[in-house]
Amino acid sequence: MVAHLQWGGMDCVELAHIWETPLYVLDEGIIRSRCAEIRSDFLGRWAKTWACYASKAFLTTGMACIVDQEGLGLDVVSGGELYTAIRAGFPPYRIKMHGSAKSERELRLALASGVGSIIVDGLMELELLDALAGEVRRPPDRRERPRIVLRVAPGVDPHTHSFLITGQTGGKFGLPLEDGEGSLLSEAVRFALSSKSITLGGFHFHVGSQIFENHAHVEAVRRMVVCMERMQKTFGFKTRELNFGGGFGVPASPDKPHVPLRFFTDAMMGVLTEECEARNLERPYVTIEPGRWLVSDAGITLYTVETVKRLDGVTYVGVDGGMADNPRPSLYGAEYCAIVANRPDDPPAGKVVIAGRCCETGDILIRDVELPAVTRGDILAVFNTGAYNFSMASNYNRLPRPAVVLVRDGWADLLVARQTWDDMLSGDSIPERLLR
Ligand SMILES: Cc1ncc(COP(=O)(O)O)c(C=O)c1O
Repeated sequence: MVAHLQWGGMDCVELAHIWETPLYVLDEGIIRSRCAEIRSDFLGRWAKTWACYASKAFLTTGMACIVDQEGLGLDVVSGGELYTAIRAGFPPYRIKMHGSAKSERELRLALASGVGSIIVDGLMELELLDALAGEVRRPPDRRERPRIVLRVAPGVDPHTHSFLITGQTGGKFGLPLEDGEGSLLSEAVRFALSSKSITLGGFHFHVGSQIFENHAHVEAVRRMVVCMERMQKTFGFKTRELNFGGGFGVPASPDKPHVPLRFFTDAMMGVLTEECEARNLERPYVTIEPGRWLVSDAGITLYTVETVKRLDGVTYVGVDGGMADNPRPSLYGAEYCAIVANRPDDPPAGKVVIAGRCCETGDILIRDVELPAVTRGDILAVFNTGAYNFSMASNYNRLPRPAVVLVRDGWADLLVARQTWDDMLSGDSIPERLLR
């Protein structure tokens, strides 16, 4: 009998037959082992630390339950993510509300649900939040007020795709880490400290995503300590919380070794401790927010091969999904690896291009991958699709979103049902005047 690719103890070909393709498959065991690594190598190793999963990477109510059971917090960036967490019963005090352009409705929901903190991205948001929080009578004790953290752009270069850099100055995120009185950041700190409705806890930065070196993270910490010292001297403000964000990279190929969390966190915590000591500052509480690192390599996507074409010496393998279920290759050239799940041990027959089915020339999932001879009906498994695939999926070309299945030790359960064509039509309405 031909061996098939196994994932979480399940036969991938069987999964494809039961749930059809494209199909996202997540190995719960890998997700839980990443959570365990966070506990042992970060929370257990460094005092006064906390970790939130950046749920934008992948969030469903089931995923929120796993994160809750693992004792971590949740970073959400929208009303939709917050609502998902609340519906899953996630404890609100362990939620951090992010977002670079939060609406009033989202801020009201965050306040009403009692999230642990709100990460404020700019002055206008700060003023709005202060006004909204002020609508409710607050006890005089600052600790009882909604807690905020200011997002800062530390201005470091993390050496990743330009679309994935978020901590540069001149970008759209946060308040620039400029020196001196009169800077936007100083203005925000002054405003927050004078507020009677909210409490300033500290600062947040996120240098970018899919980063494999730790220099940028470390440099950002150094710059933040200088900022903390300045804020203490200028305003007498002691930073109680410093949020390091996420961005810890995951290699595209499952053959490459997993990047240990400690590679980033030990370097950052070491510098933070040293710099705080050198400047006589109390070391603040530290939070990290890994997204991709926690979930990316737990996920694979199964596709069925629909067509194989040889054109001008290039073999195109056309599959039944593409940029609608994984926009990352066409958006910013993200790289992936694949194998033939129904014949994983067959010898390679040459390089092919895996083409998505969407009506865009740029819908190429993988530009260059060595595969055995492939034919219609074969099942392809693309690795490392656990992060930013389901969460970035669209209905382009009116393709229904694939199902998500959670596998573990030979069990498979549905996390999200496949959309049907009728699901896609459920929001459509035909104005009366168009009906004949
Ligand atoms: C504020 C913040 N925190 C955490 C993350 C998670 O990043 P990653 O998935 O690269 O760890 C992001 C991603 O954009 C982010 O913007």
